[in-house]
Amino acid sequence: MTTFDRTWWKEAVVYQVYPRSFNDSDGDGLGDIPGIIEKVDYLDDLGVDCLWLNPVYDSPGVDNGYDIADYRSILDEFGTMDDWETLRDELHKRDIKLIMDLVVNHTSDEHTWFLNSQSSGDSDFREYYWWREGRDPEETDLDPEDYDTPDDVNEVPPNDWQSFFGGPAWSYDEDSGEWYLHIFDERMPDLNWETEAVRDEVFEMMEWWFDKGIDGFRMDVINLISKPDGLPNSDDPEAIVRGAGQFVNGPRVHDYLEELHDRVLDEEAMTVGEMAELSVEEARQYTGRDGDGMSMVFTFDHMRLDMTDAGRWSYREWSPQELKETMTHWQEGLADEGWNSLFLNNHDEPRQVSRFGDDEYYRRESAKMLATLLHTLRGTPYIYQGEELGMTNYPFDSLEEVRDVDTIKNVRAARKSGRIDDADVMDLVRYRTRDNARTPMQWNDSTHAGFTESEATPWMPVNPNKDDINAKDARDDPESIWHYYRDLISLRKERDVLVYGDYDLRLEDHENLWVYTRTLEEDSLLVVLNFAGEETRFDPPSDLRGEAADLLISNYESDIVSVETTVLRPWEARVYDLH
Ligand code: NOJ
Repeated sequence: MTTFDRTWWKEAVVYQVYPRSFNDSDGDGLGDIPGIIEKVDYLDDLGVDCLWLNPVYDSPGVDNGYDIADYRSILDEFGTMDDWETLRDELHKRDIKLIMDLVVNHTSDEHTWFLNSQSSGDSDFREYYWWREGRDPEETDLDPEDYDTPDDVNEVPPNDWQSFFGGPAWSYDEDSGEWYLHIFDERMPDLNWETEAVRDEVFEMMEWWFDKGIDGFRMDVINLISKPDGLPNSDDPEAIVRGAGQFVNGPRVHDYLEELHDRVLDEEAMTVGEMAELSVEEARQYTGRDGDGMSMVFTFDHMRLDMTDAGRWSYREWSPQELKETMTHWQEGLADEGWNSLFLNNHDEPRQVSRFGDDEYYRRESAKMLATLLHTLRGTPYIYQGEELGMTNYPFDSLEEVRDVDTIKNVRAARKSGRIDDADVMDLVRYRTRDNARTPMQWNDSTHAGFTESEATPWMPVNPNKDDINAKDARDDPESIWHYYRDLISLRKERDVLVYGDYDLRLEDHENLWVYTRTLEEDSLLVVLNFAGEETRFDPPSDLRGEAADLLISNYESDIVSVETTVLRPWEARVYDLH
């Protein structure tokens, strides 16, 4: 008797492609869809089941495609709709699903909805966005100097909210004399989900993509779509992003998502909601039994461990113990309902081996150890392009090399407010910038790592370590990180326990070891991970000591016949198959 319902997206391993940086087929220095098509066999060989494509829609590219000007067309530089259809078909032929990015908290300021809403103050389109009158500075605590308005306008915005990209969340529009809301860049105005026509437009657009044969959506910042009535001031004026407390998990977000579910999603559709600032209880409301019907969420508690209360543009040491506690909290919290997404990096985060492993002395071992973690926890593993090669952060020398709007604006704001010292800026940028993830994929050791032709200029510099870290070499070397990922992916297909098994933490208080079992009916695995670049003694829990076992997978050679006390090598990962 089985105690679980099979669901494709629980069993899947998802591979994330950031199109600009994946593969450039036409030598303009920017990756494109035909470039992805050339690599579909590569993805198939790796064994992944689903591709998450970061935005490829028409866009002015203020935030590399997260500013969409037309949801139903493909950005010229990336190719055509025919190319996209070929990609879809090539993936589907190989049984690889395709999920698209859904960015509907905001649009680009070049979207016709915004242009219409801007030019005709009284049209229906005005209500598609958040247009409001400003306030007299005298009646507020806000300083007009902090806002960009013409000299003859002495106003501050409707409330004190700030943007995630630094600076105010409102911009003044000279033509209409009103302000509009943008939680991200000023060129990314927030849609007003209160307006029924906005919901209709979004739902129709989603249906249009489903009719084109996609398998689901990754939903960008989806827990920000509901803003509270009256757009009140922040409840915490000292917050890093003032106002976030008002618009994160806003009052009607569940109504909107339930409506979306009922109107658009069928049983098979996969949805993964990107949701910062989320508790386990809230995650259940989105994904649980009586929730809004989302498949799973991306949460970020584990991405905060190396920050102080001052947020992203700060640094503190993280400890393996904290990582274990945080992720265990989510494993346990979504054990009976809801589902986890497993990731340690993506296009918004630095490279995982540089951040959580050791990219200098034990790159190979630590990259494999982290992969073992992600593929043996309960949830759906996500691989961000290049992770399977153990790609590392980029050695940025100066801010001029940084392209990312978030880094540039936040560093400016943090410097202005004195939150970062000038002396620390480059260390922090090197450690934290999203551009670490956005350097070109390293296919081989040629001039631009095979990302583009040798005479082209890639939009981001190639990491100089491409001679040692590249797909060609990795595929030729049976001991490589790439082969290890492939083995992990194929194990998940063989063993239901890796997908559906219960997670039980053991040796809870150990500082450097993360030890857990996965159990499904009679099938049981023991996972032992050494989160240290030094030898660490492993004393098995007494009930498991002496148990007969094989080594299912490991990043080191060992002869195992049972679970015994042993000394684990730096970053060693072992998965014992218990009999
Ligand atoms: C989250 C996306 O992952 C990020 O890249 C983007 O800048 C923001 N949402 C705004 O859309």
